[in-house]
Parts: sequence; C-alpha cells; structure tokens
Amino acid sequence: KTVAIVGCPFRGGQAKLGVDNGPIHLVEAGLPEQLAELGWQVKFDGHHQFATIDAENDPPIGKLKNPRFVSRVCKSVAEVVGDHAKKGQLPLTLGGDHSLAMGTISGTLEKYPDACVIWVDAHADINTAETTDSGNIHGMPLSFLLGIGPKVDEFSWVKPVLKPHRLVYIGLRDVDQGERRILKEHGIKAFSMHEVDKYGIGRVVEMALDHVNPGRKLPIHLSFDVDALDPTVAPSTGTPVRGGLTFREGHYICESVYETGCLVALDIMEVNPSLADEESVKQTVAVGCSLARSALGETLL
Ligand code: ARG
Ligand code: MN
Ligand code: MN
Ligand code: MN
Repeated sequence: KTVAIVGCPFRGGQAKLGVDNGPIHLVEAGLPEQLAELGWQVKFDGHHQFATIDAENDPPIGKLKNPRFVSRVCKSVAEVVGDHAKKGQLPLTLGGDHSLAMGTISGTLEKYPDACVIWVDAHADINTAETTDSGNIHGMPLSFLLGIGPKVDEFSWVKPVLKPHRLVYIGLRDVDQGERRILKEHGIKAFSMHEVDKYGIGRVVEMALDHVNPGRKLPIHLSFDVDALDPTVAPSTGTPVRGGLTFREGHYICESVYETGCLVALDIMEVNPSLADEESVKQTVAVGCSLARSALGETLL
C-alpha cells in the first residue's frame, strides 16, 4: 500500500495570506515519516509546483475572485491526483484552501467514477457563481463538481462527475441561505452539528455511510476541512466557526472511514499557520497530521 502526498501550497480560493504554507508545515511536522511508521510506502517528491498568475492578470469573472489561477491550479491537481489513483496509490492532498477539492475530487472520480464523497466541514462549500457573497472559490468547489449553477467557461474542464446522492456532509454549522436552498433542492444529505449533538458521532457516521455507501463497497473520498473541528481544537484556520467537532469526534470520523476499507483519497485542507499564536499553530498542524494518521489506519490500541 502506497500513499502519495500531494502538497498544495495554494491560497487563491480565498483572501487570507498563509494557508499556502499549510502543507509545508504538515510535512515539516513529520507527516511522511508518521505514515511510513504506520506501514505505508510514502511517496512525496516535493510540493506541487504551479505558475502563479498576478491579480492584475486575473480580474474577477462575475463575482469569482482569482478565477484563472484557481482553475489552472485545480486542473493540474486533478491530473496529479488522477495519475496517483490510476497507479493504485492513495493520494493524500494537503492544502491549501478548499477550492483545491475541485481538483482532487475530479482526479479521484476519473479513476473511480462511482466513488462517494464525505465532506467534513463547518461550511457547505456549495455556493455557485450566482449565490456566492464572498466570491471566494473555496466556498464553491462542490457546485462545480455537481454541475449546479451557471456555467463558467473558465471552469469548463470540471465535469459534473459527482451525483448529489454520492455526497454527504458532517459538521456543518455555517451554511449560507443560497446553499441551504441548494441542499434542499438536490436532496443532499447533511449532518450538521445539531445531528452530532442529537445522535452522537457514532450514529452520525453510520448514518452518513449508510446514505452514500450502503453496502460499504463504493470507494470513498474523504475531504476534511480542519475548520470542521472546534476553533479550540484547530484555531489556525481562515474561517473558524464556534461549536465544532471535538478532537475525538474528528478523529472518530477518520478512524471509521479507515475501518470501511474503502478509502481511496484523502484531503486535509485549510490549515493556515499564519493565523493565531505559535502554540495554536503547532496544535493545528499536529491535529492535521493526526487526522491523516487516523484515516490511514492509526488505532488507539
Ligand atoms: N460560505 C462562505 C463563502 O462562500 C464561507 C466558505 C468557507 N469555505 C472554506 N473552505 N473554509 O465564502
Ligand atoms: Mn470550512
Ligand atoms: Mn456564512
Ligand atoms: Mn471547506
């Protein structure tokens, strides 16, 4: 078994500086060695390289900010992730902002067209070019992958590969009005923090898996935004929202997905080492590493 680490020092999907340093910190904290310790063959030959496009050469398209830059980077990430998957390796993408998932999920679905997506996040990231208030594309990757909303030429390479019934959310608590409408209209299953409180994380994960992967046979792409965790657990992230998952709840999700034996791709996104004090950064980077280890088989006993 081989895990291919795809470090993506990219922040074009949102406005805050620093999230591009997330992957560098995760690797420097020893993530590759930790995964090798778990028995994985680890492939990591440097962070993903891409050409930057200056803001003046990348004016908004409608409300979308940095559209060409985001599109170009995600397209190249889709190819890299797809290539690893085709070689039978498990791509572990380290962000960087969550717009990157447009690339990672496109890559996964190319090799595994029937894969389902478990999206762990405080946010739904399903705004369209029409519904977005911020214009930040990290709040939009799922609408592109689902083919919802107005077509944007620049993103025509993103195929509507994901079906609404193959997507499930865990951890939501900051969902925009337009996003609520989309979730309803398309019947997308979501377990917000309300359901986590009500049923407990054990039942929520079981219900989420029952929904997207009833026979536990479909490949799983797990996309984990660290802001799903409570800000006391993962403070160094661009859009923290209180009332999030505990340390254990976050890890439990990863452990349970590992236990299915169906995991084929993993994203750890939105670690921003420039936000908050040194101790908080250390804590957030460490939690990013331990989530990845849990999803890749680290057990407590
Ligand atoms: N819903 C807000 C927006 O569309 C926030 C999105 C936050 N996304 C994230 N990947 N942290 O701008
Ligand atoms: Mn988020
Ligand atoms: Mn909001
Ligand atoms: Mn997100």
